[in-house]
Amino acid sequence: MKTLVIVSHPYFARSAAIKALQQTAESLPDVTVRNLEALYGDDTAAFDVAAEQRAVEAAERIVFLFPIHWFNLTPMLKAYLNEVWSYGWAFGPNGTALKGKALQAVVTAGATEHTYSAEGLIESTIDEVLTPLKASALYVGMRYLPPLAFFSAMGADAKTLAGFEWQLKCALGEPALAD
Ligand SMILES: Cc1cc2nc3c(=O)[nH]c(=O)nc-3n(C[C@H](O)[C@H](O)[C@H](O)COP(=O)(O)O)c2cc1C
Repeated sequence: MKTLVIVSHPYFARSAAIKALQQTAESLPDVTVRNLEALYGDDTAAFDVAAEQRAVEAAERIVFLFPIHWFNLTPMLKAYLNEVWSYGWAFGPNGTALKGKALQAVVTAGATEHTYSAEGLIESTIDEVLTPLKASALYVGMRYLPPLAFFSAMGADAKTLAGFEWQLKCALGEPALAD
């Protein structure tokens, strides 16, 4: 399945987890990676909308790869939705470009898996935290795949990162034997 991975991290130079996962994604067949801050810095008005829309049109599955900061999307990912998922293209009259494609969030979070539970500090699961993304995907006619979440990801050691990378490879469909 042709997959487009949209990566966003406001502090990519300081990233360990997202950086490792981006490198993994880049190594996989049939996967195109676009890092929003690498392309546009943190300028929310700088998107090449036509290029971004072409990249989406060429893919069957869209993956958003980003760290959870204040239980939310990154600023550039939110701006990407505002700019790229536009009226007349993603929704509204003739706005069917995303219809039938799949959306999956792949996120890293500093807090523990227990924190992201009904009994945990935030009394919310990661699925609940990502509700706006789910609503957005369903609104434009996409299939919303269960998110892949990596908890306790702050300062993760090499072994933990390798585990994250393995799970991403499996999720993006690389045959295990190819490794
Ligand atoms: C500004 C900021 C806000 C953060 N907010 C959250 C949060 O709301 N929930 C959480 O679980 N982790 C939070 N974290 C931790 C990050 O999610 C974690 O460090 C990151 O996912 C690890 O990936 P990285 O190495 O690519 O940065 C926050 C980190 C920063 C810098």
